[in-house]
Amino acid sequence: MESDHTSFPKGFVWGAATSSYQVEGATSEDGRSEGIWDRFCKIPGAVRNGESGEVACDFFHRYPDDVRLMQELGVDAFRFSVSWPRILPDGRGRIEPRGLDFYDRLVDELLAAEIRPFLNLYHWDLPQTLEDEGGWPARATAEAFVELAEAVAARLGDRVRDWSTHNEPWCAAWLGYGLGVHAPGRKSRADAVAASHHLLLSHGWAVEAIRREARDPQVGVIIDAWPAYPASDDPADAAAARAVDAVRNRFFFEGALRGSYPEEALEVLAPIEPPVREGDMAALAPRLDWVGVNNYSRTLVRADPGGGEPLEVRAPEGRLTEMGWEVYPEALYELLTRVHREYAPAALYVTENGAAFGDVRSHDGRVRDPERTEYLADNLDGVARAIGEGVPVRGYFVWSLLDNFEWSLGYGRRFGLVYVDYPTLERVPKDSFFWYQGLIEANRPASR
Ligand code: GCO
Repeated sequence: MESDHTSFPKGFVWGAATSSYQVEGATSEDGRSEGIWDRFCKIPGAVRNGESGEVACDFFHRYPDDVRLMQELGVDAFRFSVSWPRILPDGRGRIEPRGLDFYDRLVDELLAAEIRPFLNLYHWDLPQTLEDEGGWPARATAEAFVELAEAVAARLGDRVRDWSTHNEPWCAAWLGYGLGVHAPGRKSRADAVAASHHLLLSHGWAVEAIRREARDPQVGVIIDAWPAYPASDDPADAAAARAVDAVRNRFFFEGALRGSYPEEALEVLAPIEPPVREGDMAALAPRLDWVGVNNYSRTLVRADPGGGEPLEVRAPEGRLTEMGWEVYPEALYELLTRVHREYAPAALYVTENGAAFGDVRSHDGRVRDPERTEYLADNLDGVARAIGEGVPVRGYFVWSLLDNFEWSLGYGRRFGLVYVDYPTLERVPKDSFFWYQGLIEANRPASR
C-alpha cells in the first residue's frame, strides 16, 4: 500500500546518519589514538579483505563538501558520532583539543548550512587503552564514558541541541564481546552480559553529564531492535521467539526506559547475571527526551529440536538485501507502535533505516538503485501509519548518507544514498538520493 508521502507532520525531521569510524578515516591524525576497530582490523580474517577505517570516506577532510551534499539533499538534520580516541586518547584524563576542534568545525559547518547536528557519543569507537584495561565488561569503562560525555558537552553544548549516548548497545555488547564478530572480538557470554549492563549504566550517567554541561539539551538513546517472530504456530517456536526478543530487544528497552531487566531475559542468561551494584538500576533509566530506534528487518525464530539455543531462520519467500536481511517493512511499523505502547517515550526518532544493494555505476555515471528507493518508501509508509495512529515519531534518518566501512564486511556492502568510489573517494549521488530529495521537498510546509 502506497500511502501519501506528503502526509508527514509539520516539523518532521528528515535526516541521514553516519558514524565516526565508518566514515572519518584520518585515524592517526591530530592526536587520535588507537581504537578497538583499528586493532581488530589487523587481525587476519577478522574483516573482509583485511580492510579498515584508515581512509574510509575521508570525511575528516572532506566534511565541507559532504555538508554541501547534505544541503543539496535537503536534510534538516545530520546524525554523526564522535570518536572517543580523538578526544580522550588515553580513554580518560587528558583531553586532546584538536580532536574536539574537528567536531567543532563540523558542527559550525552544519549550522551554517541550517542542518541540525544530532550528536551521538558512542558508535563503537572505544580507545584501545580502555579495552586493554578490561573494555566494557569492566565498570571503569562506564566511568570513563562520563568523562567523554562531559568533554564533548562542555565544548559543543552551546550549539548542539540533540544528543544521544549510545548507539545499538546490543551490538556493542554481543557482537563485540559475545559473538566476537565485531571489535574487540571476544567470545564470552559473561563478558557480553557485563558489557550490556555497563553500557546501559554509562548511558544513564552520561545523560546526567550532558544535562549538566549543555544548554537545554534534548537527550536520547539509540536502540536497535529486530522484532522476533515465531517461524510457525508451534508453541515451542513462539516461546523461542519470546526468549530471543527478551535478550535481543527488551533487555535494552527495559533497562534504559524502566530501569529493570526483564525476568525472561535473566532466565535465559542464567546462571550469568549482570554485575548490578546497589543504585545501578535507578541510575540506568533517567528521564529521556527521546528514544531512537534503528531497524532494518525482523528475525524469524525456530525452537531448536535438540533443546539448544533458538535458531534464526530464513523466511522461505522473503526477498533479501545484500546483507542477507529480509525485506520486511512491517517490522519498523511494529517496532514503533510497540515501543510507544509499552514504554511511551516522550518522542521517537527512527535513527537508522536503510538497505545494502549491489550498486554499480553505469556507463552514463548514474547509480540506479530502485530497490533501495522501494525499501525506503515502504518503510516510510509504516512510519506514516504509526504517526497516524498517534505514535510521536519526530523524524527519520536514512542509514546512510554515504557508502562506508561496514564493519567486518569492510567496503563490501553499500548503504549510502551517495555512492563512494573508494579509489578516488569521489561522491556520486544515487537515484535514491534524488528520490529522497524530492520526498523532503514535497514535505516542505511552503510547497504544500
Ligand atoms: C549501527 C549500524 C551501522 C551499520 C548499519 C548497517 O550500529 O548503527 O550497525 O553502523 O552500518 O546498521 O549494518
